[in-house]
Amino acid sequence: MVESYKNKVILVGCGPGLKAYISPKALYNVKKADILVGSRRLLKLFPGVDAEKIILEKNYSILIKKIADWSSTKQVVVLVSGDPCFFSYAKMIVKKMGRESCIIIPGISSIQLAFAAVGESWDDACFVSLHGRNDGYDHLMKKVREYSKVGILTDLKNTPAVIARQLLKGGIQERQMFVCENLSLPEESVRETDLVSAVHLKTNAASVVIIKKY
Ligand SMILES: C[S@@+](CC[C@H](N)C(=O)[O-])C[C@H]1O[C@@H](n2cnc3c(N)ncnc32)[C@H](O)[C@@H]1O
Repeated sequence: MVESYKNKVILVGCGPGLKAYISPKALYNVKKADILVGSRRLLKLFPGVDAEKIILEKNYSILIKKIADWSSTKQVVVLVSGDPCFFSYAKMIVKKMGRESCIIIPGISSIQLAFAAVGESWDDACFVSLHGRNDGYDHLMKKVREYSKVGILTDLKNTPAVIARQLLKGGIQERQMFVCENLSLPEESVRETDLVSAVHLKTNAASVVIIKKY
């Protein structure tokens, strides 16, 4: 039986990029969409889905208002990378529409994949996102001093090299750094280094960085 969610938006976690990480429950919900909203990269994961496709770029606030309007007559499904409840725009949609109007389908987060790739537990870790941020280093420094493991979402500006430089500048030295790029994708790379060497590290994509006390 097809579950119907009248007047509700479905927020679907699509995992780290590889189709095999998309859950059957996620796929089932995506197929119900009249309107499918997501980044170009995420929309490409569902070429066969017969829905109107809306590209989400930097148009978050305008689009979120439209999503709320469309959802009164159509089934809107919003694609989110990784897990919707982990540093994503799902938070803005839930805030705008109210919790009772949102169905959230969890996905595998990039952070889970990163910790799995380096064989570390994440139940004792702390998480910080520098993705799209111009500040955040004071907060990061505090967390790195406080926790033995910190998982960081980066972007093309807040790169592993910039993070290493900032930590060293703040007097933090004795840490292992794992740089996990393009997780689950054919170009995946997982590197282990220390902060001094990381200052010169070249990266080509957003990554998850794990900082660990020796
Ligand atoms: C806006 S955040 C979204 C996080 C997402 N909700 C999650 O649970 O993974 C985007 C950041 O997630 C990380 N990320 C997403 N996919 C990744 C991948 N395949 N490999 C490495 N990092 C990834 C990067 O740090 C990227 O800048």
